[in-house]
Amino acid sequence: MFGGGADFRADPTGTGAQTANLMGRPAPGQALSGPAGAGTFPSQEGSLSRLDARPRVFVTSDLGVLGLPELLRPVQDHAAVEVWSGDHPPSPEELLQGSHEAEGILCLLTDRIDAALISGSPRLRVISSMSVGVDHIDLPAAEARGIAVGHTPGVLTETTADLTWALLLATARRVVEADCFVRAGRWTKSRRWAPDMMLGTDLHGATLGLIGLGAIGQAVARRASGFGMRVLGWTRSGRAVPGVDAVPLEELLAQADFVSVHVALTPDTRDLLDARRIASMKPGAILVNTARGGIVDEPALAAALSEGRLAGAALDVFAEEPLGPQSPLLNAPKLVLAPHVGSASIRTRQRMATLAVENLVAGLLGRPLVHAAS
Ligand code: DGY
Repeated sequence: MFGGGADFRADPTGTGAQTANLMGRPAPGQALSGPAGAGTFPSQEGSLSRLDARPRVFVTSDLGVLGLPELLRPVQDHAAVEVWSGDHPPSPEELLQGSHEAEGILCLLTDRIDAALISGSPRLRVISSMSVGVDHIDLPAAEARGIAVGHTPGVLTETTADLTWALLLATARRVVEADCFVRAGRWTKSRRWAPDMMLGTDLHGATLGLIGLGAIGQAVARRASGFGMRVLGWTRSGRAVPGVDAVPLEELLAQADFVSVHVALTPDTRDLLDARRIASMKPGAILVNTARGGIVDEPALAAALSEGRLAGAALDVFAEEPLGPQSPLLNAPKLVLAPHVGSASIRTRQRMATLAVENLVAGLLGRPLVHAAS
C-alpha cells in the first residue's frame, strides 16, 4: 500500500503523473493527508486517489535525462501513473509497495521482479522492462499469472556492439593502463619511448570467438570483418551466420585469441565460462563480457589473469552489481572494468525507454506487446 508514508508530488513531469516517494520523505507542504494505510492522498489537482478508476502504473525510475514527461504522455491516456522519485533505486519492499495496486510496471534491469512481487501485485497485467535482458524477472511466475512481459531488443544492438569493440581494443592495446601511466608521471625523459613499452596484442588478423550469435553477437562479427579477423562462433542452437565459422565451444575456446560473450543469462548459461573452460582458453587470450554477469566465473577469471594465463579481460557486467569492494576482480591485473554501460548512449537509451512505454501501453490495452519476452 502507498499509505503509511507515501508522498505524491504535484505533477513534476508535466504529464499528470505523480512521483511517489514510497519511503515517505514528504515534499514540503505535501504530506500524506489521510491516516497511514487509509489510501487517501493529497487532494491537489491531479493527485491519484482511489476514486480514479483508471488502471495504475508504477514506473520505478524517473529515467533521468531521458525526457520522462514526453515519454509518459501515451501512458497518461490510459493509466494513472506513479513514478518512483526516491534518491535511491527502490528496495524490494518499496517495489512491492509501488506495484501492489498496479496493473502495469515499467521497470529497469536493476529491479528484481520476483515471484513474491508478482504474487503481491494481484492486479498486474503487464511488466515492461527497459532492457533486453529479462533475467531480473521471474518469467515462469509471470506466465503462470498470464502477465505479459515486454523488453527492448534490437534498439541497443549496435551500441552494445560498439562498447564490445571499445573494450576489445582498450584491453588489447592497454589503453586504460597507458592513460594511468601518463597521469602518474611515469612517462619521463628517461623513459620517453622504449621498444618494449606498453606492448599489446594485435586485433587485426587475429581470431575472434563469439559465444552467442544473436543480434549483438552478429553486430560484433560485422565489425570484425573490418579488422580482417577470422571469426568463430558458438550458439546453443547451432545457428549459421555468414562470415562466422560455427564450432563447438571447446574448439572456440582453444583457438580464439579474443573471446567475446553474447548470450543471455539463463539457467543453461549460468557459469558457462567456469574455471575449467577458462583454463581451456588459448594461453594469452583476451576475454570480454558485455552480456551478463553470472556467465563468467569471476574468481577463476581473476586467478587466470593473476597467473598470466590470459593476456587481459574486460567486463561490463558482473554477478553482483555494483561490484563489491571484496571482489577479487578489483585486484586482478590487465582487467578493464566498466559499470554496465553497454547500451549507454543517449539515443539508444531514449529508444529503449520509448519501446518500454510502447510495450507498457500495449499490455494495458490487452494488445500483443511490440516485443514480448515470454
Ligand atoms: C540490457 O538491456 O539488458 C542491457 O544489459 C542494458 O545495457
